[in-house]
Amino acid sequence: MNIRQLISSFYRLFFPLTLEEMYRKMGVEIGANCKIQNGVVIDYSHYWHITIGNNVTIAPHVHILAHDASTKLHLGYTKIGNVTISDNVFIGARSIVLPGVTIGRNSIVGAGSVVTRSIPANSVWAGNPTKEICTLEAYLTKQNRVFESAPKFGEEYTLRGNISNKRKMEMRNALGDKFGFVE
Ligand SMILES: CC(C)(COP(=O)(O)OP(=O)(O)OC[C@H]1O[C@@H](n2cnc3c(N)ncnc32)[C@H](O)[C@@H]1OP(=O)(O)O)[C@@H](O)C(=O)NCCC(=O)NCCS
Repeated sequence: MNIRQLISSFYRLFFPLTLEEMYRKMGVEIGANCKIQNGVVIDYSHYWHITIGNNVTIAPHVHILAHDASTKLHLGYTKIGNVTISDNVFIGARSIVLPGVTIGRNSIVGAGSVVTRSIPANSVWAGNPTKEICTLEAYLTKQNRVFESAPKFGEEYTLRGNISNKRKMEMRNALGDKFGFVE
């Protein structure tokens, strides 16, 4: 057992469920093979308005909101809206998804975005408010081109693969000012 696995077992003693397991137990509809990363907030007080499909990745500190209490004082009611995150969607770190939004299948939302309107399938959106950057097809063509000549690293170059200090340095030097890819 490496140090990371040891810390993880210790953590599990006090927090036995992953965020995904916890939200699922609380009743949030979450499909199979999703990654709900640390610090993600799903609007629990209105969770039955939120649906998350299969193979969805929600990066750290994303907020998914289904209610807006800015109307409560004035109307006596809180505004609510269903949120649907479709299959294979990726939502970048620290993004905010507002009530009433649907993110279509296979779409990607950039880090730090504020998603105020629904996003169609198969596209890449980012910014505040989100704007379309490109189609998914164009994005993948671009990434594949970079991938072909970029340095690539296996699992032994990750924390889960217990990366050595030597490999960390090797990896850093191999990247220089270019992008690489890790398993
Ligand atoms: C949105 C994203 C997927 C686009 O990737 P990309 O196409 O390789 O990005 P580029 O750097 O080539 O940017 C393309 C354009 O989008 C803009 N852009 C990229 N990411 C953006 C973001 N997060 N917010 C606003 N604009 C963004 C760039 O400024 C650029 O605009 P320009 O053409 O006017 O100069 C990526 O930038 C991103 O945000 N990934 C998420 C990272 C993340 O959350 N990681 C968490 C761990 S999983």
